[in-house]
Amino acid sequence: MDELRVALFGTSGFAANYVEAFKAPKRENVRLAAAVDPYASGFDMCPLYADAERMYAEVRPHIVVIATPIQLHKEQAVQAFEHGCHVVLEKPLAGCAGDAKAILAARDRAGRLLNVDYQLCYDPVIRAAKRDADAGRFGAPKQLKAIVLWPRGFVYYGRSTHWAGRKYDAQGRAIFDSVLNNATAHYLMNMLFMTGQPIRDVNCRTYRANPIETYDTAVLKGISAGADVFLAVSHAVAPEEKQEPLLEYRFEHASLHFGAKGVRGSSLTVRFDDGSVLDYGTVKQPYTENLWNMVDALRLGSPLLCTGETALLQTLALESMRQVQPEAEVFPPSLVLNDGSMNRVEGLADALWRAFETTELPELGKNGLFFPGKDIENS
Ligand SMILES: NC(=O)c1ccc[n+]([C@@H]2O[C@H](COP(=O)([O-])OP(=O)(O)OC[C@H]3O[C@@H](n4cnc5c(N)ncnc54)[C@H](O)[C@@H]3O)[C@@H](O)[C@H]2O)c1
Repeated sequence: MDELRVALFGTSGFAANYVEAFKAPKRENVRLAAAVDPYASGFDMCPLYADAERMYAEVRPHIVVIATPIQLHKEQAVQAFEHGCHVVLEKPLAGCAGDAKAILAARDRAGRLLNVDYQLCYDPVIRAAKRDADAGRFGAPKQLKAIVLWPRGFVYYGRSTHWAGRKYDAQGRAIFDSVLNNATAHYLMNMLFMTGQPIRDVNCRTYRANPIETYDTAVLKGISAGADVFLAVSHAVAPEEKQEPLLEYRFEHASLHFGAKGVRGSSLTVRFDDGSVLDYGTVKQPYTENLWNMVDALRLGSPLLCTGETALLQTLALESMRQVQPEAEVFPPSLVLNDGSMNRVEGLADALWRAFETTELPELGKNGLFFPGKDIENS
C-alpha cells in the first residue's frame, strides 16, 4: 500500500484535532508530512512551513487538510487543487457562494476529490437514518425543526485572529462568520443533508447582542424537498438557558428525534405512526473522520460522505438569508445584560422556544421579540 503524504493547514484551534489524529492514525501508511501555519512555533510533529508554495515544492503532498479561518478556505483549497492534491476541508465550505463555487470549479478542473467536515454527515447513526429516509421508510419529509441555544461570551468573540463575527477581512475576503456559519452550522447542514435539496422560499430574522458585524441569533424558515424547515439558534442566551441541539424531523409516517427540551441528546430515535420506536443508537459526531473517509475514497473507492455539493447547500442557505436581511437587527441596549463575560438578552430564550413551537418568525420591538398578530405590538 503506497504511503499517502498529508499536509495540514493550521495547527491550533480546531486543527489541533488533526494533529491529535496523527498520533494514532486510523489507517496505515498515512503520514503527516508537513504543516503550514505562519503563526505557529515549536511544532515538532513534522516540518512546519510559513510559506505554502515552499511546502508544495518540497513535500508534494497527496492530501491537503485545511483547518484555517473561513476567509482562507478558497485560496488555500484552489491552490491545493492546482498542485494536484485532494482536499479535506473544515466546514463551512467558504464565506460566500462565489468562493464556494470557485472551490468546486478548481476541484473539477484538477479532477481531484474534496470532502468537507460537517461531522454529522460522517456519523454512522445519522447515515443509517438518512439511508432509511432516502429509501422511503418514513414517507416524504414534512417538517424539519431544530433549536440550539449555546451561550458564547467575549472570549469566544475575541479569540484567535479576530475573524469571529466579521463579514470580510482586511483583504476583502468573505468570512461571514456567524452563529449559523460556525458553531450551529452543523444543524442547518443536517436538515439539508437529510433532504438533499437546497432551501427555497427563505425567510429569516437575524439579530445581534454582541459588537459584531454579522449575527449571534437567527431564526430561519424555508422549504426543502417540499418540507418546511425551521431553525432557531442563539449565542446570546444565559448559561442556565443553554439548550443542546434538539432536532425534530417529521415525515409522512414517522418522526425522527434527537434531544429534548433541557436535555442533551444522545440517541437518534424514530417514532413510527403505528406506535413502534426504533433506536438508531448514539450520535457521536466523530472528529477527523473526514480525513479517513478521504483515505478510503482514494484507496478503496469508498464514497465521499460530505461532498462539496452537500456543503454548498449550507453556504447557499446563508447567502439567501443575507439577501432577505442584509443587516442583522441590533437588540436594544436596555435588553442586553453584560455580566462581565458575555452579552445576553432578557427574554430571548423564551421567545426562541415560542418560535420553535409555533414555527413563526418573531419581530423585534423595544421590549424584545414579539409575535405579530399574537402579541400586542411593542415597538
Ligand atoms: N468541525 C467543527 O466542529 C469545527 C469546530 C470549530 C471550528 N471549525 C472550523 O475550523 C476552521 C478553523 O477554525 P478555528 O476556530 O480553529 O480557527 P483559528 O483562528 O483558531 O485558526 C486555526 C489555525 O489556522 C492557522 N492559520 C491562520 N492563518 C493561517 C494561514 N494563512 N495559513 C495557515 N494557517 C493559518 C492558525 O494559526 C491556527 O493554527 C474554520 O473553518 C472553522 O469553521 C470546525
